[in-house]
Amino acid sequence: MAETFDLVVAGGTLATARRTEAADIGVRGGRIAAIGALAAAGAARRIDARGLHVLPGVIDSQVHFREPGGEHKEDLESGTRAAALGGVTCVFEMPNTDPPTTTAAALADKCARAEGRAWTDFAFFVGAAAENADELPALERLPGCCGVKIFMGSSTGTLLVPDDALLEKVLRSGERRVAVHAEDEERLKARREIAESAARVSAHPEWRDVETARRATERLLRLAAATGRPAHVLHITTADEMELLAARPRWVSVECTPQHLTLAAPECYDRLGAFAQMNPPIRGAEHRAALWRGVARGTVDVIGSDHAPHTREEKARAYPHSPSGMPGVQTLVPIMLDHVAAGRLSLQRLVDLVSEAPARLYGARGKGRLEVGADADLTLVDLKARRVIDDSWLASRCGWSPFSGTEVTGWPRATVVRGRQVMRDGELLGRPAGRAVRFAEA
Ligand code: DOR
Repeated sequence: MAETFDLVVAGGTLATARRTEAADIGVRGGRIAAIGALAAAGAARRIDARGLHVLPGVIDSQVHFREPGGEHKEDLESGTRAAALGGVTCVFEMPNTDPPTTTAAALADKCARAEGRAWTDFAFFVGAAAENADELPALERLPGCCGVKIFMGSSTGTLLVPDDALLEKVLRSGERRVAVHAEDEERLKARREIAESAARVSAHPEWRDVETARRATERLLRLAAATGRPAHVLHITTADEMELLAARPRWVSVECTPQHLTLAAPECYDRLGAFAQMNPPIRGAEHRAALWRGVARGTVDVIGSDHAPHTREEKARAYPHSPSGMPGVQTLVPIMLDHVAAGRLSLQRLVDLVSEAPARLYGARGKGRLEVGADADLTLVDLKARRVIDDSWLASRCGWSPFSGTEVTGWPRATVVRGRQVMRDGELLGRPAGRAVRFAEA
């Protein structure tokens, strides 16, 4: 008798970092149970994937969802809804909420809030601070925690590890991969006047300049080498850092964002004003070109969106009082597929950057693999679809995107989380049933 499955995804082309092949996927109990020719198999449900590519579920390993404390701009429901609509199956959320996620109670609170409200699977970072540095080894092992986040420079929120003494203490406190925002706090403070006196957003990359980023990344590399602590340097923006990172120790990994790979100064500030303002800043085209070389050469390990919504009203404040950050979890897949269509990277390379590498680097169990036994997290994409990113499609509570009005080639058509289809052709299906990701022992 033919095998039966809970779900068969039929007729698609599977794409992993290593291979592309026409095959069906059979799912049982939320996991991939078979890969092959399953036309004859019984299935409670089927997804017609003809004409589509099936990727291991996309993990956005850097999002800011604002709950608790900033629910007027996003919450865990709206943020994960945006993720699911954008083809993302799993998110790692940042700790600079209000209150920040710096204690076991704050982490447990976030996990409880996500239960029954998250459309995707999820995990939360714990923020490093002077007050919790000694507790980080215990905090990073708590359920629902994907690791520790370090802000070397002030950004949105209060979290800060400003000097080498505290940075080294944090790096020696625990074992799991730490995610690091590398901007040099001392230099930011010394140059703040540049932003104040310019009072125009195009001064953002002058204040938070190339040296601010380079110096912090160099300091981090030195201490990561000395301590042996695995570190993930977030949202790299400069040619100078890419050069340093090309010679990084193998336990250091590197992230770039779609916006730094797509937008460039000065045009973005002329066109988008404060909607282009983020930390670290969007820089000139020569830096953007260096980021693409980093992608091509393998210096870049991961692409994450740094989804950081702020309302239009907040963005309308006079610079530098306008907040930094832009949404991106819903546009990560279409923007990067458009770069695939333009020939800037291969689909297989993209799968590594957004699915396989985040799972591997953070040790997310069952995630990021199209293999029998793995979670049936799938992102189904149409590589040929031409679509305009329209505000009416966006689910983020902030209601805008720096990519609004952009025409792209490549679109997410379905999102499957542990065998449950949560999105098909722009519609959410079922109810939010995301779960906390589990991680391998550090
Ligand atoms: O631009 C940014 N916005 N960079 C960050 O580091 C934080 C983020 C936010 O949370 O708004």
